[in-house]
Amino acid sequence: MIKKLTFSALSALAISASGALAAGGEGHIEDFDFSFEGPFGTYDQNQLQRGLKVYTEVCSACHGLKFVPLRTLADEGGPHLPEDQVRAYAEQFDVYDPEIDDFRSGTPTDFFPSSALENAPDLSLMAKARAGFHGPMGTGINQLVKGIGGAEYIASILTGYTGEEKEEYGSIFYENTAFPGGWIAMSQPLYGEDVEFDDGHDNSLHHEAEDVAAFLMWAAEPKMMARQRAGFVGVTFLIVLSVLLYLTNKRLWAGVKGKKKD
Ligand code: HEC
Repeated sequence: MIKKLTFSALSALAISASGALAAGGEGHIEDFDFSFEGPFGTYDQNQLQRGLKVYTEVCSACHGLKFVPLRTLADEGGPHLPEDQVRAYAEQFDVYDPEIDDFRSGTPTDFFPSSALENAPDLSLMAKARAGFHGPMGTGINQLVKGIGGAEYIASILTGYTGEEKEEYGSIFYENTAFPGGWIAMSQPLYGEDVEFDDGHDNSLHHEAEDVAAFLMWAAEPKMMARQRAGFVGVTFLIVLSVLLYLTNKRLWAGVKGKKKD
């Protein structure tokens, strides 16, 4: 009886899992190799600058980054642009200033503008809002090994277009192998060779997608390196403390346990 019960419970699980797969919920996410992965990973300053260029020249036509302060473009560990370049970058934006009740040109203390296109989501936190890896079978265990995968998700979306499109309820959807459900309302934004990189880096589709995804990861999580370093110091400290406590404990109980003190 018990055996039978477990068997039917297992088969019910298997059926619901295959149901979830059949619904086509998950898109295919490619595992990109980012410099910031792993406990000692760091952002690659040149890659962030290239990603900023892709964002500025392509994505910003529709998507905003309204939670990201422009001055952070000068941050060490981030794109680390020289101050005068950040000032020049900020000046291209027209910012509404309630104090003068008028528009003025942007300064580094302003934020990036919000989305220009109403149904294009703000990308400030997108790299943290999406997870790339859900498997196996939706348990999320893969995230322990591969990371959450927000940057992989973005890069996979950008490289996941098949070229198919369909019209539904008056809107056009584009087939995308990474987007959950398979059809996205964003037309393919990158094809390769969309921008010229100042450092002469390869501007094929794969690299542009990787660079802008890295930039968006930095935008969402600018202090990732400091956080990882603090975590590493904390864990090392706890390991050393455990060893010392173990040795102290042994020493304290040595007499009681009848062993000779040395
Ligand atoms: C022509 C306007 C347009 C451009 C340019 C554009 N996007 Fe989008 N993007 C959209 C729209 C609209 C959506 C909403 C799609 C949907 O929900 O089906 C979207 C959605 C997204 C999403 C969210 C997908 C999700 O999981 O909800 C990401 C990430 C994204 N875009 C990244 C980018 C990046 C990176 C670029 C620049 C390389 C870019 N987009 C350029 C219009 C645009």
